[in-house]
Amino acid sequence: MRTDSSPQTIFRKDYTPPAFLVDTVELGFDLHPERTIVANRITLRQNPASKRRDIVLHGEDIELVQLRMNGQLLGKDDYLLDHATLTIKKAPAQVVLEIETLCAPVQNTTLSGLYVSNGNFFTQCEAEGFRRITFFPDRPDVMAKYTVMLRADKASYPVLLSNGNLIEQGDLDDGRHYAKWEDPFKKPSYLFALVAARLVCQEETFTLADGRDVLLQVWVEEGNLDKTDYAMQSLKNSIRWDEERFNLELDLDRFMIVAVGDFNMGAMENKGLNIFNTKFVLANPRTATDIDYAGIEAVVGHEYFHNWTGNRVTCRDWFQLSLKEGLTVFRDQEFSADMIGTDTGRAVTRIDQVRTLRQAQFPEDAGPMSHPVRPDSFVEINNFYTVTVYEKGAEVVRMYQTLLGRDGFRKGMDLYFKRHDGQAVECDDFRAAMADANGRDLGQFERWYSQAGTPVVTARTRYDAVKRNFDIILSQRCAPSAGQQDKLPFHIPVAVGLLGASGQDLPLTLEGGKHAKGATTIVLELTEQEQIFRFRNVDERPTPSILRDFSAPVVLEYDYTDDELLHLFSHDSDPVNRWEAGQRLAMERLLKLTAQVAAAGGSDANLKLDPTFINAQRAVLTDETLDAAFRELALILPSETIIAEQMDVVDPQAIHTARQFMRRTIGAALKEELIAQYHANQTPGDYSPDALSAGKRALKNLCLSYLMVAPDMAELKLAQQQFEKAGNMTDRSAALVAMIHSGAATGPYLQNFYEDFEGEALVVDKWFAMQAAAPTTNVAAVRQLMAHPAFTLKNPNRARSLIFNFTNANPSQFHAADGSAYDFWAEHVIKLDAINPQVAARLARAMDRWRRYAPALQAKMKQALEKVAARAKLSNDVLEVISKALA
Ligand code: PHE
Ligand code: ZN
Repeated sequence: MRTDSSPQTIFRKDYTPPAFLVDTVELGFDLHPERTIVANRITLRQNPASKRRDIVLHGEDIELVQLRMNGQLLGKDDYLLDHATLTIKKAPAQVVLEIETLCAPVQNTTLSGLYVSNGNFFTQCEAEGFRRITFFPDRPDVMAKYTVMLRADKASYPVLLSNGNLIEQGDLDDGRHYAKWEDPFKKPSYLFALVAARLVCQEETFTLADGRDVLLQVWVEEGNLDKTDYAMQSLKNSIRWDEERFNLELDLDRFMIVAVGDFNMGAMENKGLNIFNTKFVLANPRTATDIDYAGIEAVVGHEYFHNWTGNRVTCRDWFQLSLKEGLTVFRDQEFSADMIGTDTGRAVTRIDQVRTLRQAQFPEDAGPMSHPVRPDSFVEINNFYTVTVYEKGAEVVRMYQTLLGRDGFRKGMDLYFKRHDGQAVECDDFRAAMADANGRDLGQFERWYSQAGTPVVTARTRYDAVKRNFDIILSQRCAPSAGQQDKLPFHIPVAVGLLGASGQDLPLTLEGGKHAKGATTIVLELTEQEQIFRFRNVDERPTPSILRDFSAPVVLEYDYTDDELLHLFSHDSDPVNRWEAGQRLAMERLLKLTAQVAAAGGSDANLKLDPTFINAQRAVLTDETLDAAFRELALILPSETIIAEQMDVVDPQAIHTARQFMRRTIGAALKEELIAQYHANQTPGDYSPDALSAGKRALKNLCLSYLMVAPDMAELKLAQQQFEKAGNMTDRSAALVAMIHSGAATGPYLQNFYEDFEGEALVVDKWFAMQAAAPTTNVAAVRQLMAHPAFTLKNPNRARSLIFNFTNANPSQFHAADGSAYDFWAEHVIKLDAINPQVAARLARAMDRWRRYAPALQAKMKQALEKVAARAKLSNDVLEVISKALA
């Protein structure tokens, strides 16, 4: 909670090194839910890099009981204490501080610092949670060695965990026990963690590449031990992968994953003690979908990979967050792709990444919270754990690999660790390692870190049949964003191929290029505002395939004809661009149809969909040489959100009507093929989450959803049967979602599903989520669901399942003409803010794009924003989001 009146903006340029460094930290915890005593003994010494002599410790929501300096008790006159800091002026050069504080974990609903979840103790310290546990210079460039003593009631908290190695444990009086942990590596405070809980674990000894044995554990509540196999398998795969791909080995004797039901984010990479949202640990076929399994693999990998990219080498300050997050997302993306192993499998993961960027990052880049990958300022750092820092950050890292090649990228990584192991560094240091290891000048590449906004690359082409030259003229621009009026050209890798008339890749000869003979994809480097690239020896006018594999996070404009797109859609050897051609064909039509619906006052009566498009869809659907997973992606129409981003004035109802019309029309026209593919892509036998099986289920369930847009009795029956006979959650939930979306009477099915899974929190989340996101669910229905006994605002997963899925995934209802859903939004931002500001601020962002809606909606959205802004007691988190939206 904000305790002073005006929130402060913090600027990157104001960075100064810490006045004091910390060498060792000894923490003692006497854990009680209401009253936990923390004894903290730290040794500090003056930082030679700083001239300041004051010790400044952060502290928030904790009570100072006692403070000693070099053994001497300090009185109130010896230090300054306010709501955020404890300052000791003109401290001696070497200091031992002993600080005793009190906190109340059970009252802590923010889930930052030390808190209680389902009767167990957990901590969350990133970004600035450690200061809610004890007074400390809580900044990532202060790295120290930690020893931790935990004491708690043995019956209630039989398991006591912290970072590093367990060095001692035993019983105490009064039924309490203790455990002492020591982390051999120095670390920033944000990586500290403890768990005191009633939990059980799946464990295994695992042999590393160098022959060392390590202990791996996955800790969960007792009833969930049947859901830990996949997390454990993913952990082992991650360890192997990092050894093989980057020669990075686990540096501890023990590595633990702990699942907790109340968690603000996905998971946290605390040294040796990763704490996870249950959503990214628990899975069995009955409760988890293919998407859940993929999420577990990715997040387990992500947190594990942080051990090197984040923990061994950490961030100098929070503006550098993407240094660890962008890099680690890239690493987890590569891991997931390598786990599938096939080229199309890899492409399918890439397409998913592109969809995420367009769905969430491009809108962020164009909205009021727009910021560079390395922000220049913030009010609340928690608001900057964004798709820009994470996913665009990963794209920036990927571009190094595209520009330098896999080997060059690996050389850069090796140099990065050689130079910076054990240090807290900046994004620029990573870039320098990449440049120096490869003898490349990557000076201009810096703009990817400093300039916000999505670059637009425009391509024009010309063919000279006599000279057999084909020119691609690329130019770039980037719209202004907050504080950045004019932007300088980016260094953009644009991967290009040329298709001949029969769809084959033409061998490429780039004028002035030094590419392997016979290459069919070449990475053009666009560094100027406009550049001409000339291909020689081109015998026929080719169809250009530009931005293959989505080689840069940009919008590509090129005046493709329908024929060219159809050609690419059926032949491009680059699966990402093949998919992209289909998306362009669909988008063109969706925008036209949307305009027609709007002009017809919302009616879809006179809409038409051309047979060309339908035939192209049919061809992909029935092409069994293509992976099911790819076919599914090729058949999904761009989402309503992505369509909205293409419009100057957004009309959510018209978009929904047009898209539904298109889906209904495709469903009817391809009915026979959809039914055939539905049956051809069954996955009988034991459930397996592997990519091939998951792809089949995805395609089959997409077929079902098309058939269920306007189902007849037989189609309804198909869905009902799938629901009843499903041997896994993927099929069961897909059938139920299809029924809900069709508007068919689903009451008994929903009831049945709920009763079957009442005791499975993550499945109850799904139950809320699928209703919240259905276009048949209006705000009144959401309010009714909130009254359900299983609903609570206090659990972030539950709050997100119902509220966020409504505000973010159900645009036609969220933007109901009467504005009633906006009032609902304002009410819940305010309610959530009193409980958990981080979660509230995420909800607040549902209004980011308010200025783009039709005037009537815009006015109502503004009113709702102002209603929130007018509240006297807002957190900095929400205040920052709302004031930027209104600015
Ligand atoms: N650092 C975590 C991750 O990306 C995310 C996180 C941030 C978790 C802040 C909790 C709090 O892996
Ligand atoms: Zn991360």
